Amino acid sequence: MAVTLTHLDDIAIATVDNPPVNAVNHAVREGLLAALAETEANPAIRATILLCAGRSFIAGADIREFGQPPKPPHLPDVIDRMEGATKPWLAAIHGTALGGGLEIALGCHYRIAAPSARLGLPEVTLGLIPGAGGTVRLPRLIAAEEALEMISGGKPVTAPKALDIGLIDALAEGDLQEAALDFLRARLDAPLPTPLRHRQPHAPRDAADWDKRRQRLHARARGQAAPLAALEAIETALKEPADLALARERDSFLRLKSHPESAALRHVFFAERAAGQMPRLKDVTPGPLTQIGVIGGGTMGAGIATACLLADLPVTLIERDAAACEAGRARVTDSLDGARARRLIDADRHATLLSQLATDTDYAALTGADLVIEAVFEDMDLKHAVFAALDAHTRPDCILASNTSYLDINDIARATAQPDRVIGLHFFSPAHVMKLLELIVTDRASDRALATGFALGKRLRKLTVPAGVCDGFIGNRILSSYRRDTDAILQDGATPSQIDQAMRDFGFPMGIFEMQDLAGLDISWAMRKRRAATRDPSERYVDIADTLCEAGRFGRKTGRGWYLYEDGKTPIPDPEVEEIARQSAAAAGITRRSFSDDEIISRILATMQREGEEILNENIAERASDIDVVMINGYGFPRWRGGPMYMAGHRNS
Ligand code: 3HC
Ligand code: NAI
Repeated sequence: MAVTLTHLDDIAIATVDNPPVNAVNHAVREGLLAALAETEANPAIRATILLCAGRSFIAGADIREFGQPPKPPHLPDVIDRMEGATKPWLAAIHGTALGGGLEIALGCHYRIAAPSARLGLPEVTLGLIPGAGGTVRLPRLIAAEEALEMISGGKPVTAPKALDIGLIDALAEGDLQEAALDFLRARLDAPLPTPLRHRQPHAPRDAADWDKRRQRLHARARGQAAPLAALEAIETALKEPADLALARERDSFLRLKSHPESAALRHVFFAERAAGQMPRLKDVTPGPLTQIGVIGGGTMGAGIATACLLADLPVTLIERDAAACEAGRARVTDSLDGARARRLIDADRHATLLSQLATDTDYAALTGADLVIEAVFEDMDLKHAVFAALDAHTRPDCILASNTSYLDINDIARATAQPDRVIGLHFFSPAHVMKLLELIVTDRASDRALATGFALGKRLRKLTVPAGVCDGFIGNRILSSYRRDTDAILQDGATPSQIDQAMRDFGFPMGIFEMQDLAGLDISWAMRKRRAATRDPSERYVDIADTLCEAGRFGRKTGRGWYLYEDGKTPIPDPEVEEIARQSAAAAGITRRSFSDDEIISRILATMQREGEEILNENIAERASDIDVVMINGYGFPRWRGGPMYMAGHRNS
């Protein structure tokens, strides 16, 4: 039974039990209707508490049903019946009340929530708008501005904030059911609150401010349908009668549900949940994670140390000398300062976390470490030396990980006597902010080592995607391949700004040339020089980037790269770069031509997809959707397009 009804004297308790997150499916909708019928018909019942079993209140409509034709009873009808009940319903919320779950709570006459609960309407993140009255009832309960923020941004609010803005009636300290009973008993003789649909909406406080919010939303939507549909639905709800607004909301929801944008976002939702799964690790127990070692306190090492500290994992950071230790500590302090500025931590926690960081130059300080992550310069001899030292100084059960971008970790593992404890943990910069983590599965890695890597990813709240050993793993390998292709398109006749603009129009936050200028051109130049001797001579090689580097154009940091930077940050197209591209084409005997934006994007996509297929064929990725997860979360591929492999026809399996 998805919904059961019990009684405590004259108060009924309707319990939804549909693990894992009580999503509203057909059975729950039917169960709620049956509970409504019984509570209305039974004269001994004076009020009903809606509670949920397990870890959460209702986390929304069941997304798995979205691909199928809707089956009655529909959620809006269930909520209408609840709202029209002659006896009060109270939603007692713990965990999360999301989407259809919050809409059900809005159909109840009262709402209380445990202090740790979160409430939200995240439908836009699935390419939808609320489809069961959320856009109509919410602005009739809370300020229009708060409603717009919650519905168009999709971000849940905490229970204390919900109380603050009037979304709930009370916080439930202690036992939720007891608090709900107390709350209702105190109101049994009070008149039934006016259902939200019969109330007046809260008009925006200030028309000019509302206009600004509207403009910001248009700018942020960048081609996506759902955020603008959310705005339209709320504006309809603010000026039209509730019945009309509810009907329009439903139409819009159903239209969006069958739109490719929502199908793509639903694919990503399930892809991200599938990503951390490796069947061979199903029954493997990870090692402990109480003390982490980090080797190298540069950009990545400091970011990784910060990420661990923020997850309450004490860190010992090893550097070359005392000055480098201090520089590493300063970088970690800076990152924690940033977290404090973003109000993720307060001053006390900042001090506590920093006290959990030890720095040293001696590997003997790592004897207590359960897992060590190496992030020294990208140099194989150095990595060998570091892993040999780690092998000598760490406990035999300590997991050893490298953060290398491109080097062969199987080779790195050979510097140790126990290659089975060596894995890759490829973080993305800034490591304490970016959600993606590639877990590199070396040939001889033990299941325990891999399971511990996944456990660390989970502890750091990363999306951990397994990848086999190859040049660049999943993400950097695909990036390298389409970077080579965009250089070729440039040589063939396009300009950096045209290619970047086409990519931005497609939905990337920035184009490939702007991105390289931001990261610096010198690092990949050094890599190309290292590989020059082993390059396949039959492969097309475009030398434009090399010519730029030879001229000292390393990107933003030198004021010139693919673009000019007069103010240090705004890219200005540079005729000199176009001239270099022209000369490069002439030297290669290429007659330049024009490109349409569509052709540019088709070529970039085709290259990503071709490389992705090879990655799959070589078993570097576990599943096609993992490649989508990597490209979306590490390389700015627009989420609402589902990822390159999804666009090539791969669906979640
Ligand atoms: N429908 C179907 N399955 C869902 C689901 C949903 N709404 N929400 C979560 N699940 C599934 C996940 O796929 C996962 O399944 P798996 O174990 O087989 O992989 C399982 O529940 C647990 O989910 P998570 O791994 O994400 O667990 P977390 O504890 O990390 O997060 C959560 C829980 C915050 C509830 C998160 O799952 C979430 O954000 N869910 C989606 C919420 C949402 O978008 N709701 C709106 C749906 S649209 C809607 O309601 C339309 C309405 O307006 C008509
Ligand atoms: P970095 O140059 O900023 O930092 C390297 C640090 O290693 C320096 O602080 C240096 O003092 C230290 N170091 C060098 N030799 C050492 C030794 N023997 N013992 C202890 N410390 C030593 O480099 P960055 O960018 O942090 O890169 C580190 C690694 O992470 C490289 O393998 C790189 O390929 C990889 N990586 C880099 C990313 C990036 O965006 N920068 C992203 C993902 C991986």
